Amino acid sequence: MKSKTISRRDFLKNIGMASAGVMLAASPWLSAFSEIVHTKGDKCRLAIIGPGSRGRFLMSFLVKNPKVDIVALCDIYQPSIDEALTLAPQAKVYNDYRKLLEDRSIDGVVIAVPLNKHCQIALDAFDAGKHVFCEKAIGYTMDECFRMYRKHIDTRQIFFTGQQRLFDPRYIKVMEMIHAGTFGDINAVHTFWNRNGDWRRPVPSPELERQINWRLYKESSKGLMTELACHQLQVGTWALQRLPNKVMGQGAITFWKDGREVYDNISCIYIFDDGVKMTFDSVISNKFYGLEEQILGNLGTVEPEKGKYYFETIPPAPGFLQMINEWENSLFESIPFAGTSWAPESANENKGEYILGERPKSDGTSLLLAAYVEAVITGKQPPHIAEEGYYATMLCLLGHEALEQGRIISFPDEYKLNYLNHQAKSL
Ligand SMILES: NC(=O)c1ccc[n+]([C@@H]2O[C@H](COP(=O)([O-])OP(=O)(O)OC[C@H]3O[C@@H](n4cnc5c(N)ncnc54)[C@H](O)[C@@H]3O)[C@@H](O)[C@H]2O)c1
Repeated sequence: MKSKTISRRDFLKNIGMASAGVMLAASPWLSAFSEIVHTKGDKCRLAIIGPGSRGRFLMSFLVKNPKVDIVALCDIYQPSIDEALTLAPQAKVYNDYRKLLEDRSIDGVVIAVPLNKHCQIALDAFDAGKHVFCEKAIGYTMDECFRMYRKHIDTRQIFFTGQQRLFDPRYIKVMEMIHAGTFGDINAVHTFWNRNGDWRRPVPSPELERQINWRLYKESSKGLMTELACHQLQVGTWALQRLPNKVMGQGAITFWKDGREVYDNISCIYIFDDGVKMTFDSVISNKFYGLEEQILGNLGTVEPEKGKYYFETIPPAPGFLQMINEWENSLFESIPFAGTSWAPESANENKGEYILGERPKSDGTSLLLAAYVEAVITGKQPPHIAEEGYYATMLCLLGHEALEQGRIISFPDEYKLNYLNHQAKSL
């Protein structure tokens, strides 16, 4: 099969960067590709644990990677196994992941089971000497996340999480611009993710309801926080290059009163030490505004999901337009009441600039997986990637605590790592 793996040079070209140095400062995990030429003839043996909807999506990239053999699959639901075998027909099938982990020839696993089952499987995989790619959110509790991260450190096995935006060329490029000060001081990040749908899956028989619709029940999911906020909070802290210390929020079930236990309507405010704020809002009964991470600097705004940025001051329009603008301005200036006290702050009509031309089709998932494969082959953990995944989940779990307890929650010292502005007491 012809290689579809993106080369480092193509990758750099794709995101419009001449040199890796600039990019590595904002996104150091890209160093995963630094040996891509040397590993050309190498292969790794991977197993997929939980090849459900996401697991099979990940497999669809892995089966095209000539450096990967998918040698084993494990699921407790036969329809998932049947579907996964169409992608990897040679794979050995297991119903118990512990048996799969006994196969010493397996280098790494991809864990895509429901959230409440991630931790034990990941811990056992690390102990069995496997490298681990675990879907986000990584753990169901903060303590689970901390134990997973510690195990990664102690066993020195590779640890990747399903934060694909870390490898999305639009995000990588615009983060470099943000960190270079292009948009000035970032004083707020507004994130939101709206949908119009019940999030339910059809269930072949009633006793499978909680197994198949695990996202809707508190025993296995923390709803919109762990499923959606996890991505956007990571983007906010990536832009700000620091971590918030507190969060407050409110959650409710306001529309989908169908027996679900997780909220369908959430607002959270994350607070940084100097008062800068990052918000997350989500409703799943209206999708008009879709999803975005609005990164607000005093010189400009970034909307990476849309793939655009906007400067506060638009360069002067040429010729005739400039004349009309000047005429309009002088007219307003001549009206005695004119001024910001009555003029509405109407939304900016500025159409902005594309970060990378029209929106690319890939969302970073294929490159994230390619980077995991490189790391499994070289045995080198790229800097910051495990910590980014850890804090992405920790912040959404912190937000979840604020929703449940109805009060301001501070980030517990015992779960801090030496990362960005957080300093660990226990590590
Ligand atoms: N990164 C992303 O953008 C993204 C997107 C979607 C889902 N996810 C994550 O992927 C994970 C899976 O989500 P999904 O939508 O694919 O769920 P899913 O229900 O479609 O798939 C989960 C699979 O795990 C299987 N499973 C359950 N318990 C198991 C066990 N003990 N051993 C082996 N298999 C087991 C289920 O039978 C099912 O086939 C979740 O953590 C979710 O948050 C990430």
